[in-house]
Amino acid sequence: MTQPKLKTSIAILGCGDVGSTLAYTLILQPICSEVILVDPKKELLEAQVRDLGDATYRGASGVRVRAGTHKDAGQADIVVITAGAKQKTGESRLSLLSRNLNILESIFSSMAPISPHTILLLVANPVDILTYFARRLSGLPESQVLGTGTSLDSARLRGILAEKAEVAPSSIDAYVLGEHGDSQSLGPVQQSAPRPLALAMPDQLTPEFKASISSHTRGAAGAIIAAKGCTAYGIGNIAASICKYILFDSRSVRPLSFYQPELGCCLSMPAVVGRKGIIKAMPIQLDYEEQAALETCASGLRGVIEGGGE
Ligand code: LAC
Repeated sequence: MTQPKLKTSIAILGCGDVGSTLAYTLILQPICSEVILVDPKKELLEAQVRDLGDATYRGASGVRVRAGTHKDAGQADIVVITAGAKQKTGESRLSLLSRNLNILESIFSSMAPISPHTILLLVANPVDILTYFARRLSGLPESQVLGTGTSLDSARLRGILAEKAEVAPSSIDAYVLGEHGDSQSLGPVQQSAPRPLALAMPDQLTPEFKASISSHTRGAAGAIIAAKGCTAYGIGNIAASICKYILFDSRSVRPLSFYQPELGCCLSMPAVVGRKGIIKAMPIQLDYEEQAALETCASGLRGVIEGGGE
């Protein structure tokens, strides 16, 4: 990994539960030299800046946290968009679309002109559809516009598999692909070390077990939201790690939402991520069923895009 340049700034649009958790994670690591928070709720914004600022005074974080405007944000190395309505209990991510698309449009008109070097990271839901529209609204090259997509679902999947196989989650290479939503599907499941997953858990990797883990990853956020009203730590942490891959030009392979020309929408597939955003898609071998599931998912997302958020 190359070290990031001396002054690196990450702007976070929306400083509610997810935006502030992301900011806190960036400070603790630390991943950048400056965090710029932007939110129309002035009192909340100032309070978050003060509270997060307090977290930088202890230890050697050295990160500066400040409030900024959309115009300031447009000049940052990375702009993370968390702003938007959040899911309520029982609501699907897609039902947020028309509200969050309006917010996205107003963000882009206030942010212009965006630096041609900025990387946009979409976190707000429905993330795949918003990534698609952000690509159009920002005017940035498509490699610079990405969404957290199924990186969180994939982490949840690795967690369950790791527990069953009794190995570290980091030793499991498994992806959830497609939509960060109800049409997501499990990609090929492998274990990087010490043995293939099928050998580590021969009696467990049955179609029934796969169906049950798939339904777990699909329903994970809903269960957390029903109990505490939001998800924040998981997604905040995942978004921070993606910022790190970008600023450190790590070229890690992660499942991220980005434009798929053959499918006409943004959805998650493995990609190499680095300082220029999506460096390249990482080809992956899908079997017949996995390919069919991906195409069904893409056709659903295209339908929503063509409806323009109605
Ligand atoms: C979740 C939200 C980020 O899955 O959609 O936790």
